[in-house]
Formats: sequence, structure tokens, C-alpha cells
Amino acid sequence: MKFSLSQYLNNDIAIDLGTANTLVYMKNRDVILDEPSVVAVRKSDQNIVAFGKAAKEMVGRTPGEIITIRPLKDGVIADFDLSEQMIRYFIRKAVPSRIPRPRIAICVPTGITEVEKRAVRDAAEHAGAREVYLVDEPMAAAIGLGLPINQPVGSMIIDIGGGTTEIAVIAMYGIVNSISIRVGGDEMNEAIEQYFKKTFNLLIGDNTSELIKCELGSASPHEIKGSMVVKGRDLIAGIPKTVTITGKQVQEALAETVTQIADSLKMCLEMTPPELSSDILDRGILMTGGGSLLKGLDERLRQETNLPVIVAEEPLLAVVRGTGKVLEDLNRYRKVLTRIKKY
Ligand SMILES: Nc1ncnc2c1ncn2[C@@H]1O[C@H](COP(=O)(O)OP(=O)(O)OP(=O)(O)O)[C@@H](O)[C@H]1O
Ligand SMILES: [Mg+2]
Repeated sequence: MKFSLSQYLNNDIAIDLGTANTLVYMKNRDVILDEPSVVAVRKSDQNIVAFGKAAKEMVGRTPGEIITIRPLKDGVIADFDLSEQMIRYFIRKAVPSRIPRPRIAICVPTGITEVEKRAVRDAAEHAGAREVYLVDEPMAAAIGLGLPINQPVGSMIIDIGGGTTEIAVIAMYGIVNSISIRVGGDEMNEAIEQYFKKTFNLLIGDNTSELIKCELGSASPHEIKGSMVVKGRDLIAGIPKTVTITGKQVQEALAETVTQIADSLKMCLEMTPPELSSDILDRGILMTGGGSLLKGLDERLRQETNLPVIVAEEPLLAVVRGTGKVLEDLNRYRKVLTRIKKY
């Protein structure tokens, strides 16, 4: 990886510290790291054996001695030490260690508490940041997509991540109204796992439920297609078993989570002032985050709201790119930074 002199001197980085994936962005280099937020730890001495992609490959396949941990849950830090070490590792991997301590911008869910905000800031500082700036996720997504957040025009974002769904109406550098629910792709995986337990008495792992969701999962009757042979462990006999699941069954498993997301979107629309509602009617709602890739979810939300709903281009990259843009032009974007209250 080659770095120019100006990059050595201006080494600001943006991080999307997500429940499912962590992304790192650097000016002029775009997204330079994109890895699962997973850490593998040896139980006996608590030593870390792998981070990111290498750790995710171990999920559900490790000998009893090694466990895989996701240090974030529902969009916020659940394990402080592991989060800090994971951030440190990703920074080192993305940028050479010889450069000065970077300034770091990190995005956070809108529903985050002050304590949770402080945890993110402290983890980034401990991981080597010279200064830390926090940005709300939906604001970052809107900036990343180049929406006119500086104008008196309403833009609406729904970011469906692994742990949270963030819905916000944005105008004049501010979030006018927002809803953040701790429901997202993880909940969909869990719903599929529960369905297998109830319907087939079959235990399946996290990576399997995720694969089923991405391959067969859908939220609209027009998208129900195909079937898949799935291997797991029989809950009663305790031995490996194979079953076939159909697209219709996966849709059934996901129905409740999808309804929760649709209801929250409608609730957020109800809170929106009428002038801004009419902007959204013209301009539509933009979907970001990995959950927006669930087949037919855009169509379902369109049906429920009677509004245009569009999946953004490269929906998993919008948040980190927007966070990066904030840091590149702090004078312009200072207003969008999330403050941490002093005690
Ligand atoms: N094709 C797909 N269909 C359905 N879900 C998908 C697809 N691709 C990715 N996902 C889901 O998207 C989620 C990850 O999205 P993303 O990286 O935006 O989340 P995150 O930013 O890590 O989480 P959060 O913002 O909640 O902290 C995972 O739950 C993943 O299973
Ligand atoms: Mg996210």
C-alpha cells in the first residue's frame, strides 16, 4: 500500500463501527477496509487469535477452546476491551503504523445513550485516535449519498444494519425527526434460526441462517422463489440432519421483523411536518445498510407508504463515506457532529 506525503500528514480516517461490519475510509482512497466485526478469543488465556474475516470464518466451527465474539450488539459497544482492540487492529491494518496518530470520525446510532457515546469515543482514543468526532448514522448516510442536507428540503433515509434500523428525516444540517429501533439483520437471522427449531427441530448456525436470508429471504410476495437444502443438528436425536426449506417459509420466518421495520417507517412519516412530507413524496425514501438488500423489502415499503422507496447504490458504503466527508470538511459540517454531554 503506497502512501503519499500529504497522506502521511493528513491521515484522518472515518470508521463505520457496525454491529455486523466495520469499514474504514480515508480521503482520496475511499473505503480501505471492510471486515466483519468479529473477534476470535482463546478461552483459557483470553488471548485474541483472529479479527474480522478470519474470525468470522471460525464462527460455529471453532474447537471448544476458541470462541468467536461480536463486540457490538444492537449498534453499540457490548464488550469495551474487545471493541477497542478490534478498532486498533483495523486501524493498523488499514494505515501504516509509522504515521502520526489519526483524527477519527465514527458514526453512532441516533438512539444511543450518553454512556454508549462515551464508550465509542474512549475506545477510539485508546485505540490511538488523536481526536474523535461522532456523527449520527442516518446523517452520515445522507451525506455519503450526496443528499442536499444543507437545504430546506426534506430527505428521508432508512438504514437497516445488522443491529439497528435508523430512520430519519433530514433538512438544514439537522435531523428533524428520527426513529431508531434495535432491530435489523441479526434479528432476521435469529428469526430464521427459531423457525428451524420450531418447524424442523433443527439447530442451525449463524452463518447458515445468514446465507439462507441472503439467498432465499424476501419481504414481498413477488419475490418468493426457490428452495434450499440446509444441514444442521437434530435437536432431539443430536445427530446431523438435512432438510429443505422454501422461499415461502423463509418469508414467513422474516415476516415479523419486516413488519416492525415497516411500522417504524410509517411512524416516522407520521411525525414529519407536512412541508417536508411533500418533499419526501417528490424525492422518495433512500434505503442504505445491508438489510436494504433483502429481496422485495423496497417494494414492501413502497406498498406500505405509497411513496417512492429506492435502494441506494452501494448501500453498505454510504455511512462510512458520509462520515469521511464530514471529517474532510469539518468547517462546513461541524453542525452535524454529535456532542457528548459533560457530566
Ligand atoms: N443480500 C442481503 N439480503 C439480506 N440481508 C443482507 C444482505 N446482505 C447483507 N445483509 C445483512 O446486512 C447486515 C449488515 O449490514 P451493515 O453492514 O449495514 O450493518 P452494520 O452497519 O454492521 O450494523 P449496524 O448499523 O446495525 O450497527 C447483516 O445482518 C447482513 O446479514
Ligand atoms: Mg450500520
